[in-house]
Formats: sequence, C-alpha cells, structure tokens
Amino acid sequence: MGKDVIIALDFENREKTLSFLDRFTEEKPFVKIGMELYYAEGPAIVREIKARGHKIFLDLKLHDIPNTVKKSMAVLSGLDIDMCNLHAAGTKAMMEAALEGLTRPDGTRPMLIAVTQLTSTSQERMQEDLLIREPLDQVVMHYAKCAADAGLDGVVCSPLEAGKVHETCGSSFVTVTPGVRFAGGDVGDQVRITTPEKAKEIGSDYIVVGRPITASEDPVAAYRRCVAEFVG
Ligand code: C5P
Repeated sequence: MGKDVIIALDFENREKTLSFLDRFTEEKPFVKIGMELYYAEGPAIVREIKARGHKIFLDLKLHDIPNTVKKSMAVLSGLDIDMCNLHAAGTKAMMEAALEGLTRPDGTRPMLIAVTQLTSTSQERMQEDLLIREPLDQVVMHYAKCAADAGLDGVVCSPLEAGKVHETCGSSFVTVTPGVRFAGGDVGDQVRITTPEKAKEIGSDYIVVGRPITASEDPVAAYRRCVAEFVG
C-alpha cells in the first residue's frame, strides 16, 4: 500500500476550494471531501475536482440499513471516487452490503474504510450514552476486526492506534489517520496528535491533514513538508 498525504478540503464552498487547489501548480494532492463541502455543492464538486486530476476520499460516513447503504454506495461509486467510508457500528451486514453496492460492473471499486469510534467520543460518553462497557481501545480494535472480517480495506483511526490495528488486522489492512500536526505547530481542537514523521514510524498508511496545510500561509510548502516527512 503506497503511503500518501490526504489534504482535508474543509472549505464551505466551491470558490474557496478551487482557489485553494489552484495554488498547486506542480502536484495533484490526494484530497478529502467531507460533509460540509459535499452538502454545499453536491456531486458536481466531486466530478470537478476529479476532472482536475486529484484522487478523492469522500468522507460521508454512511450509517443506515444495509439496503440503503448498498444503493447509496453504488451512486458514490459512479462518481469515480478513490476512497469512501462508513460507520462500523452499522454492523458487518451493513459493511458487506456497502462493498457489494460499491463494486462497479467491471469489478473495480473505490477503497472502503470504516470509522470505529469517533475520536470525539470519550470512554465515559461511550459507556453512559451508548451503554458500551468495554474499554474504548478494545472497542476500537473489535470494530476494526469486524470491518476486516466484512472485507473492508481499512479503518480511520488515531495515528497512535495504527500499530495496534495492523497487529490485530494484518499489515495490509489500511490505516487512515487524522490528528497530524507539525512539531511545534498549532494543535487547534485535536487532542491525540502526532507529527507526520511519527505517524510514518507508527505505521499509518495515509495521513489526513487539514489546517496545518489549509490554514498555512504557504499551503504548497506545508504540503511538501508533510510529504517529505511522511513519505520520505
Ligand atoms: O484540520 P485538521 O488537520 O484537524 O483536519 C482533520 C480532518 O480529519 C478533518 O476533516 C476532520 O473532520 C477529520 N477527522 C478527524 N478525526 C477523526 C475523523 C476525521 O479529525 N476521527
């Protein structure tokens, strides 16, 4: 699995997104389109960014009954994206249905990865609100194992969990990790963070980087620094 840096395009509209991407004249970074931009601009923004030559991770985190997820995944697959995701909490049946829906008539499909427990969910909230009694790290590993059993390609997880996910689910099971900051950089609202260099050491396959690149005065230089540290 080729390591890569994915830029989180957390912008509110097409204009801001494209003017950001226009700054990249030499490289075509792998980008992540999340709910905010997708709900604002719809599938047209996905097609437009794809036509510019970028690989796309469509981060919509589907979670519904298997039949609905299957049909929705078929629609997303038709957008020619490279990676998308769902909540492992939807069960193995939902994940298997998603894979079926995602598979194109020619047998190809985007990578499918699962969200385990959101990093915004604490041990306490998981126990009190979700009535899940096991320790959070065990729950994350169990969800990752379910995703692997269902045939998914990997999970979104904290870089600090990437090594354990590989131990549990195998080295080819992909880890996509947000929460990356440069040494000495602004942490913002992220709590469990690591540097691109450390993420590489722990074994992340893809790092998702937003503000350290998008809010930088020189996003291209920040992106190149990430690639140099993470991919080498
Ligand atoms: O700006 P920053 O680098 O914190 O952006 C990280 C990106 O990864 C955001 O799009 C955020 O929604 C996403 N993400 C995350 N933590 C997760 C899952 C997704 O930060 N557990």
